[in-house]
Amino acid sequence: MRRKLIAGNWKMNGARASIAELSKLEGLHPDPASEILICPPVTLLAAFEGKTSIPLGAQDCHWETGGAHTGDISAEMLKEAGAQAVILGHSERRTDHGETDADVARKTEAAWRAGLLAIVCIGETEAERDAGETLTVIRQQLQVSLPQGATAENTVIAYEPVWAIGTGRTPTLDQVAEVHDDIRASLEGRLGAEIAGGIRLLYGGSVKPANAAAIFEIANVDGGLIGGASLKAEDFAGIVAAAETQRSP
Ligand code: PGA
Repeated sequence: MRRKLIAGNWKMNGARASIAELSKLEGLHPDPASEILICPPVTLLAAFEGKTSIPLGAQDCHWETGGAHTGDISAEMLKEAGAQAVILGHSERRTDHGETDADVARKTEAAWRAGLLAIVCIGETEAERDAGETLTVIRQQLQVSLPQGATAENTVIAYEPVWAIGTGRTPTLDQVAEVHDDIRASLEGRLGAEIAGGIRLLYGGSVKPANAAAIFEIANVDGGLIGGASLKAEDFAGIVAAAETQRSP
């Protein structure tokens, strides 16, 4: 059985005082069939470490262990600061910083090297969907962004349609199912059914308490990557509760 993962991506939001919001999540996951993760800005990751029982992650890493890379942070540094996981290849990184699939692959290897769970993000733009290219784009991103060596223990894939992030718009449930089934099939082709069957596939993009249960019911959806709704403990808790009524196979 794949444990549902509900991961909060705080993006460039929050302050030290946000520990109060995090504290409201303590004890939130009594159901062993699901787990939660909060990825705050890296300054807060370090500030929260040791002050919460909520598992923490980061939002990006460099691929090198250290050296002359001004402004960057290595996977090893994130691990030392308390991260258990790192989001990689988020569409905002791809847009703001020109990250390519090849960059994401190097970062994923770095995350594995440091013992972090890599949450590898892929997703089509609205123009690509309108042009009927969604599955082609997703397959290509997955093929290049994910290096050899993915397992259920070191990798999670997040499908995030770019046009659904922060917009309040979501694909239909059939569209989510189509992409997730296709990702699972791609992983099976590459890794074999056993390994592919253990890797969790998250959906991200305007997940709210009101739509979470229907999305999490989809067979190959194993949780969510939550942006805006992760900033308020009540909303995040509502999404976690929706996950706990579901079971992935
Ligand atoms: P959103 O963001 O939930 O605010 O749409 C999701 C994400 O970017 O991971």
